[in-house]
Amino acid sequence: MSNEGLGQDPIPTRVGEIAAHEGAFVELRGWLYNMRSSGKLHFLQLRDGSGVIQCVAFKGEVSEETFALCGELAQESAIIVRGEVRADDRSPLGFELGVRDVELHSAPSGEYPISPKEHGVAFLMEHRHLWLRSTRPHAVLQVRNEVLSACREFMAEGGFMLVDAPILTPAACEGTTTLFETDYFGDTAYLTQSGQLYMEAAAMAFGKAYCLGPTFRAEKSKTRRHLTEFWMIEPEMAYCDLAGDMEVAEDMVAYIVRRVLERCSESLRLLERDTAPLEAAGKAPFPRLSYDEAIEILQAEGSSIKWGTDLGGEDETLLSAKYDAPLLVHRYPAEVKAFYMKGDPEDPRLALCVDMLAPEGYGEIIGGGQREDQLDILEGKIAEHGLPKEAFEWYLDLRRYGTVPHAGFGMGIERVVAWLCGLKHVRETIPFPRTLQRLYP
Ligand code: 4AD
Ligand code: MG
Repeated sequence: MSNEGLGQDPIPTRVGEIAAHEGAFVELRGWLYNMRSSGKLHFLQLRDGSGVIQCVAFKGEVSEETFALCGELAQESAIIVRGEVRADDRSPLGFELGVRDVELHSAPSGEYPISPKEHGVAFLMEHRHLWLRSTRPHAVLQVRNEVLSACREFMAEGGFMLVDAPILTPAACEGTTTLFETDYFGDTAYLTQSGQLYMEAAAMAFGKAYCLGPTFRAEKSKTRRHLTEFWMIEPEMAYCDLAGDMEVAEDMVAYIVRRVLERCSESLRLLERDTAPLEAAGKAPFPRLSYDEAIEILQAEGSSIKWGTDLGGEDETLLSAKYDAPLLVHRYPAEVKAFYMKGDPEDPRLALCVDMLAPEGYGEIIGGGQREDQLDILEGKIAEHGLPKEAFEWYLDLRRYGTVPHAGFGMGIERVVAWLCGLKHVRETIPFPRTLQRLYP
């Protein structure tokens, strides 16, 4: 590429850093997002992954070839643009580029499938690999990126050790109905539903540990809250009870919310997310209800729910609508919860567990609690649930050698991002969603 006649070398930069270069001659490398022309002017919207900037090519300021090239550029042409950064009050960015030169790096081989006009979600999901380039997915995934980095920083500041859990596992953690099975050299392996059991081993080794990675559930239901592949952060703490567990959960969520409000205001604005309802979630402690209290409230509100059943989506929405902040519901009936939950010594029908329900109808974002730490009781639960004891011998060892009270929880990243962004469906919160109907692209 040549800058002959321009008298100086352009400074390579990105749209996201353009404010630092006001008045400078810069080079941006990206793609043509959109274009319009009027007589002597071509307005190129250039996106480079860090933002979108309007580049103005004025006939009198560029070569004839450059002006002609600008007029012919198709959407998603890969282009390198050089020009001067000018302050511009009318643009959301605050700057535009006065074009001096445009280089076409590669022209699209056909018409780009996603035009600036409206498309249905099914069409967009089929083209998710291209849809990622649009401003809306960009904003959502920016929030996801912030949620994930806030999770990691909160854990590091709290002295948690990152311990990666395996994806291929010999046994179920969250019930046998949603297992993805795969052949493992003649044996059966399952895609992990949760890293929890391994984090319990890690907590006994490191005191405080967490994993953050993909988990899998063969969810046959088609809902706006379920993916078959989703990401979870799962902290686990030795010498911790249910009360301590709930404190860490609410502190973590409040930390994430504050971080997203501070650092993602532009993305939230683009998504037209009203951030006022999020303010209350930036401060712990959160309100708490026991399952018993929750059932009383629901029944008084006219719900037909009976003591002993799990809360459905509608029950969760009804309950959380009463609070501005996320709600902690604790001590569910042991019967509706997983085998590893510790029984409540005050009432053996109950489990020492907690769910966190997000406000505004977003439902459960966290599930966790205190674990059964007594060997004989745990053996009994494994048998009761019809689970193969051999596969859990290693897990039982944790109770054989230095068992202590311990607790933890799992937070679904996609549910949190959907809530923070105000999205109806979790499928938009993960780069390439996997659902009952979708394995492509
Ligand atoms: O409540 P769950 O099933 O809890 C566990 O897996 C525990 N073993 C976690 C632990 O204690 N370490 O799942 C935890 C969270 C839910 O609250 C929800 O946010 C999310 O994971 N989740 C899903 N998100 C999207 N799609 C699905 N199919 C999900 N299933 C659970
Ligand atoms: Mg749950």
